[in-house]
Amino acid sequence: MTPPITSIGLLDPDQVKSVLGAAVLAPSTRNTQPWRFRCTAAGIELHADPDRALPVADADRRELLLSCGAALFNLRTAIHVLGAHPATTLLPRRDNPTLLAVVRPFAARKPDRRLVRLADAIPRRHTNRTPFEAAVIPDTVVAELRHAAEAEQAWLPRLDANQLDRSRDLVHESHHSQMTDPAFLAEWRHWTARPRDSRDGVPDYAAGAMPSEDWILGAFGSPRRSLVDDSDPLVVIVGSFDDKQADRLRAGQAMQRVLLTAAAAGFDASFVSPPVEVPEVRAELRTLLGGGLWPQVVLRFGRATPVPWTPRRSLDDVLLEPSRLSA
Ligand SMILES: Cc1cc2nc3c(=O)[nH]c(=O)nc-3n(C[C@H](O)[C@H](O)[C@H](O)COP(=O)(O)O)c2cc1C
Repeated sequence: MTPPITSIGLLDPDQVKSVLGAAVLAPSTRNTQPWRFRCTAAGIELHADPDRALPVADADRRELLLSCGAALFNLRTAIHVLGAHPATTLLPRRDNPTLLAVVRPFAARKPDRRLVRLADAIPRRHTNRTPFEAAVIPDTVVAELRHAAEAEQAWLPRLDANQLDRSRDLVHESHHSQMTDPAFLAEWRHWTARPRDSRDGVPDYAAGAMPSEDWILGAFGSPRRSLVDDSDPLVVIVGSFDDKQADRLRAGQAMQRVLLTAAAAGFDASFVSPPVEVPEVRAELRTLLGGGLWPQVVLRFGRATPVPWTPRRSLDDVLLEPSRLSA
């Protein structure tokens, strides 16, 4: 049974439902939606759902935290545009490792129009796996993407032509490693060959067949091209300065802020995760970036044919029984 939703701070029950509705529209690895929420008088708790982890592709649950970080960014932004300040504490209790954050919508705040623009983009953002058109992404938008990452304490390093070339090799290496791993393939099929009425996983119409290496490499454009030019999609890496749980949660928020910034500017995005999912390759990518940043997610941006949205579980499925937060 759905736990009753009551007012929390400045939000009435309908507003609480609407901000939770925005949170669950976040992207998540394989559309696992590895989050749960608990509404208490003290705030909205975001919990990880370890039953929705990917033991093979995401053994250390890094992508689970990125996904939950993305949901947290949506939650904070949706609260903000309703005129409340989303005071957020990450990892508030050491004795409760699945509790990732508490958001307290108490103080009134005049909404910032830049965040209103991002909130409007939440339902319009979809992962787009169709071929990208040759479209120039203006420098002003690239700068906006960079600022979006920095606002959430992450970094969007610019890759030079040599780094981009080397990245293609790393994509090749990691893709090959995954495609020859029966455990990876079984896990992939589990989340991509779901029944038609499934509310999670990546449906056929969103992914098509298993991505080919050409498709994945295509995301990096032609060899020896610069990051931004007339014909290649833009590839960016969201990096963090450390790689602990809180850093990954912050990187997930940064990833979502970057994705929404692109969507608001009319650009499509997709993910190229093999090089960050295979630990040895991720280490090589880190070295390629100069060793100071932890690569968290690889994204490509461009313009593509619009795609339908992927399903989400209902709020009933993601709400935990209410409970009191101890001080
Ligand atoms: C951390 C992370 C990694 C992802 N990696 C991939 C990927 O490698 N390939 C891909 O096609 N989609 C990837 N996705 C996108 C998800 O499959 C997508 O978010 C999910 O299916 C929900 O669809 P939506 O983004 O259109 O809402 C990733 C998403 C996240 C959050």
